[in-house]
Amino acid sequence: MDALGKLYSSTTIVTVNAWGKMNGCAVAWITRVSLEPPMIAVSIGKQRYTHELMSLTDHFGVCIMLPDARKTISIFGSKTGRYYNKFDGIDYKLSDNDVPILPGSLAFIECKTRGKLDAGDHTIFVGEVIHQKVLKDSKPLLYGEGRML
Ligand SMILES: Cc1cc2nc3c(=O)[nH]c(=O)nc-3n(C[C@H](O)[C@H](O)[C@H](O)COP(=O)(O)O)c2cc1C
Repeated sequence: MDALGKLYSSTTIVTVNAWGKMNGCAVAWITRVSLEPPMIAVSIGKQRYTHELMSLTDHFGVCIMLPDARKTISIFGSKTGRYYNKFDGIDYKLSDNDVPILPGSLAFIECKTRGKLDAGDHTIFVGEVIHQKVLKDSKPLLYGEGRML
């Protein structure tokens, strides 16, 4: 394990709804970047279907996942929505802006995209937080050392 693996974060699922095309993908490379206005940054691989959809719309959601949500995280983190409907059989809800909120979330953050930064094989999407809600008073499932902890 290299030193980068020692950067721990919450395990999240970033969700998107681009004109009716919905998707989500597990994301561990996520952080707060501004207090005022509140902003976060998420790093999305350029090959991901989520990347394609996030480039078509200016809203995205972040579901911060509970420790017992590993099954949902593995669905959203191993299959691609390009060929597979990850929402099939999942009891999701939609936010006021139609962004999916997944079961197993302890908190939901909704963002308006304010900028994009090219970062090697990923793009960093910077979002201003326009809505946030704690759904369950719990600690998140952590990600570090290349795995869910
Ligand atoms: C725990 C976990 C964390 C992940 N973190 C990221 C991440 O930060 N950024 C990213 O682009 N992909 C990440 N991935 C990989 C994507 O979730 C995965 O490739 C997904 O299937 C892409 O789906 P899509 O093609 O439908 O967008 C992670 C996967 C797992 C299981």
